[in-house]
This record gives sequence, C-alpha cells and structure tokens, in this order.
Amino acid sequence: MTTTTVPPDNYVHLGDCIAYMKTLPDKCVDFVCTDPPYGIDFGYDQHDDNFEGWKKLMAACIPEWLRISRGPIIFPGGNHQGRVWLFQNYPPLWTLCWYKGSPGHRAAVGFNDWEMLFVMGEKIFRNAHDHFYAKPTDGHIDWHPCPKSIEYAKKLISTYSNEGDLVFDPFGGSGTTFLAAAQGNRRYLGCEMSPAYHEKILARLALETSQGKLF
Ligand SMILES: C[S@@+](CC[C@H](N)C(=O)[O-])C[C@H]1O[C@@H](n2cnc3c(N)ncnc32)[C@H](O)[C@@H]1O
Repeated sequence: MTTTTVPPDNYVHLGDCIAYMKTLPDKCVDFVCTDPPYGIDFGYDQHDDNFEGWKKLMAACIPEWLRISRGPIIFPGGNHQGRVWLFQNYPPLWTLCWYKGSPGHRAAVGFNDWEMLFVMGEKIFRNAHDHFYAKPTDGHIDWHPCPKSIEYAKKLISTYSNEGDLVFDPFGGSGTTFLAAAQGNRRYLGCEMSPAYHEKILARLALETSQGKLF
C-alpha cells in the first residue's frame, strides 16, 4: 500500500489496521475513538485475543495513533493486567470512568460496574468531565461478540469532536463508532480485519444511516 495524502471519508477498510495506518499521513484524523480487543482470549472469528498478542498490538497501535491524530485518542485499557502494563509503558494523559451500571454477575474479584478509558493525544477538551454513564450494549447485534452501545460511542464523539471532524476507529467490530459518527454529523474512517464483520458493518451503516436520515 502507498501512503495517501488525504484519507478517505466514510470508509471502512477490510484488513489489518496496523498495515492500513501506515498508509495514512501524519495528523490526518481528528479523534481516534476505539475499542481494541481486551487480551482476554475472547472469541472473535479471526483475531486471536491472547494477552501477549494484545501487548504487541498495543505497542504497534499507540505510536501510530499518536502520529496520525491531531486530537484525542480514547480507548478502554483492557483487563487489569493490561491497564497496569499500559501505565508502565504508555502512561495516559488522563483516564475516564465509563459507568455502565452493574452487569449483575461477579467477575474474578467483584462486580465490574465501570471501565477505565485511557486518554492520549492532543486537543483535550477542557470542559469534559472524567466520568459518564452509557449502557454497555444495545442488544440487537447478534453477529458480533462484544458490540458497544450506540449511546457509549455517541457520548464520546459528541464530547471529544466537532461536527465535520474525521473520527477514526481501527477496530470496527460491529461498526458502532462509524454509525455514531455518521448520526452526529461527523465523518468516519476505520478498519475491521474480519471479512464477515466487515460485510455486516457495511450493511448496518447502509441500513441505519439511511433510516437515520428518514427520521
Ligand atoms: C472489541 S471489538 C470492537 C467492538 C466495537 N467497538 C463495536 O462496538 O462493535 C474489536 C474488533 O477488532 C477487530 N480486530 C482485531 N485485531 C484487528 C486488527 N489488527 N486490525 C483490524 N481489526 C482488528 C476484531 O475482529 C474485533 O471485531
């Protein structure tokens, strides 16, 4: 792939995000709003979610995010071990608390009612609060193992970007970030490595953005 001078708008690349990001010029996106795999052996159809692989993935992604973004970079920091590793190796500028309400079942130690989001990059919005509520998921996506809620993506996008901005998500998943960006009058760009998820993302965007325009 060759380096592009202007990144495309409203485009979701099928393939590995590291290779794709290397084709993008410096400071070409306004907000990296993403949700990497957590490194907890989760069951994606293509990606192997082991912790050693997660550390390599983050070590490849974070320098690229810092290079291509002219604005903030926000992402969940994985599991507890992952957060410790990030603090040691890529200390954030700030952290956010995403309160999602009790899932009603205990994890290894106790109830996990909130998640820590890592904030890096530039142009941090000074009127932002360090906590917000959004429900975890919407329930109607049955073809991806861990779709975030549209409310979650919309809260981040409305707080950390402006209308017309280019929002980048290298880990597209079910396409939540792209949909939230389109519905908030932002442009989107991103990747997804799974052909099956990618196909469904495109179908979801075609359906839900055209519906969004009708109402
Ligand atoms: C945690 S999920 C994202 C969920 C998404 N936020 C949503 O709401 O649906 C992470 C996604 O990243 C994809 N993925 C993992 N490694 C990748 C890579 N190197 N390049 C592109 N996509 C990748 C996985 O297939 C998975 O769909």
